[in-house]
Amino acid sequence: MSARQLVLILDYGSQYTQLIARRVREQRVYCEIHPCTDVSPEKGDAGLAMVKALAPSAIVLSGGPSSVYGEGAPQVDPRLFELGIPILGICYGVQLTAHTLGGKVERAEAREYGPQQLMVDRAEGIFHRFTAGEALDVWMSHGDRIAEIPAGFTNIGTSENTPFCAIADEKRRIYGIQFHPEVAHTPRGAEILAAFLFDVAHMTPSWTPGSFVEEAIAKVSETVGTKGHAICGLSGGVDSSVAAVLCHRALGDRLTCIFVDNGLLRNGEFEQVQAMFRENFHAKLIAVDARKLFLDALAGVTDPEKKRKIIGHVFIDVFDAEAKKLTAAHAANEPGYLVQGTLYPDVIESVSFKGPSAVIKSHHNVGGLPEKMKLKLVEPLRELFKDEVRAAGEALGMPRSFIWRQPFPGPGLAIRCLGEVNEARLAVLRKADAILDAEVRSAGLYESLWQSFCVLLPVRSVGVMGDERTYDETACIRAVHSTDGMTADWAKLPYDLLARVSARIINEVKGINRVVYDISSKPPATIEWE
Ligand code: XMP
Repeated sequence: MSARQLVLILDYGSQYTQLIARRVREQRVYCEIHPCTDVSPEKGDAGLAMVKALAPSAIVLSGGPSSVYGEGAPQVDPRLFELGIPILGICYGVQLTAHTLGGKVERAEAREYGPQQLMVDRAEGIFHRFTAGEALDVWMSHGDRIAEIPAGFTNIGTSENTPFCAIADEKRRIYGIQFHPEVAHTPRGAEILAAFLFDVAHMTPSWTPGSFVEEAIAKVSETVGTKGHAICGLSGGVDSSVAAVLCHRALGDRLTCIFVDNGLLRNGEFEQVQAMFRENFHAKLIAVDARKLFLDALAGVTDPEKKRKIIGHVFIDVFDAEAKKLTAAHAANEPGYLVQGTLYPDVIESVSFKGPSAVIKSHHNVGGLPEKMKLKLVEPLRELFKDEVRAAGEALGMPRSFIWRQPFPGPGLAIRCLGEVNEARLAVLRKADAILDAEVRSAGLYESLWQSFCVLLPVRSVGVMGDERTYDETACIRAVHSTDGMTADWAKLPYDLLARVSARIINEVKGINRVVYDISSKPPATIEWE
C-alpha cells in the first residue's frame, strides 16, 4: 500500500475541530484528529514518538475554550515545534504556540466574537494567495490575545482589536491565526488552508473516493486474509450498505450479509435492500423475518429509551443466532470478522479529550455488538465523513438512489410511532410516510432534505369524513435541513406540497384524520420525536 500524506490535527476542545478536518479533506488531503493530550508535556517521549510514527506532512493545533494561563489548560510539548513539520495554530492553537515559544498572551480588553475584518500585512506563507493591504472577512471567537510574539515571528495580519491576528515564522514554517478559517463566516478560509497545505507544506491533493476505495479493499483483504469469513449486519442505511459492498469487493462469497426485518422498517424497504444486494452485487445475503420477536418484545412499551434498549437487545440475539449458524457452517473456518459501518465522527467522539459528549439518546447500533460476539471488527469506513461515504459508494458503483437515501435511525419506526408500537399503528404510519416520501421526491426535494418523515402521534381528535364523525390519530410531518444531524433547521416546505401530502394522508390512510407540521429546530428540539 502506498504511504499516504497526512495532516495531524491536535484537538484542544474547540467545537470546530471536526470542521477543520472536513475542510482539509475538501482540499483532498487526508487528515486525522488526535486529542491534544497525546502530545502534552506529560506524555514526554511517547507523544513525540507517536507524531514521528504518523509522520504528518503538516500539523494543525485547533482552537479550544481554555486560556493558556488557566488552571489545567492543555499545554504542548515544546519539542513539537522542533520537528521541522509545518504547523498552523488556530485561535487557542496560536495562543499556545506564542505562549510555548516565549511570547506573551493576555486577556483582551474587548472580547472578539463574530465577524471582523483582517488586514493582510504581508502576503506570504499562509497568506501567499492574497495581496498585502487586502481586507478579509474573518470569524473570531476569543477572549485572550497575543501581546508579544515569540522571537523569529513576524506579524502578517491585523484586526482592529487584535494587533497580532496572524503571525508567521517563515523559517520554521510555523503559522498562527486568531480567527477561524474553517467556518463558513470566513469566506476565504479555504484559500488559507490551501496555501498552508500546498504552498507551505508542499502536499499533493490526492485523497479521493477512488483512491480510498482501492486502499480500503486492499486493507480488508489483508486483515481478513485469504481464508477468513466475515459477516455484516445490514440496516438498510447508507453506511452499513457501503461497508458491505466494499467488503464484498474484497472478500466475495466469504462475506455474508445479514439483514433483519425487525418489523420497524419503512414501506418496501426489506424487499428493496434485498434486491439491491442480490441483483446488483450478487452478494450472499441472509434475510431474517424477526418481526414477531421485536413486536412481542415491544408490546405495551411507550418509553423511548426502553424501546431503544429492547430493540438493541433483540437485535443482538437475532444476529447472534444467525452468526452462530454461520459459524457452524464454516466449522473449520469461523466467520471470525464482523463488518461495521462506523464513521469518523463516531471515532472522534470516542477519542475526544473532552470525553464522549453527554448522551441525549442512546444509539443502540453504535458499539453494541462486538463484545458479546467475540468477532474481530472490520470497520472500513472509520476514516470517513458521511459525504465521503456517499462518494465512496458512488466509486463502488452503487445506485445513486440508494446512496442518497436519507438517514434512518436504527430503532426505525418504533421511535416515530409515539406511544405504543403495534402492527396496526405501524401500518398506518408506514402508509402516511410512504405518501410523504413519494410527494417529496416528486417535488424534487428529497436529496436536498437531511430527513423528511412522518411521526404518528397518539393524539386523537375529532373530524368529519362524509357524514361520519371520526376520532382518529394525528400524523406529524417532520422535514429538516442539516449537514450532520447535530443541528437542524426545520424545512420551509412549499405550502402546496404540504397541502397535497395532508389531503392525501387524510383521504388515503384510515386511522389518521389530522396532519400537522413540525416547525421546531434542533436545538432545542431533536430531529426524531423520541
Ligand atoms: P436526533 O433525534 O438525536 O437525531 O436529533 C439525530 C440523527 O440521529 C438519528 N437517530 C438515530 N440513529 N439510532 C440511530 O441509528 C438511534 O437510536 C437514533 N436516534 C436518532 C436521527 O434519525 C437523526 O438523523
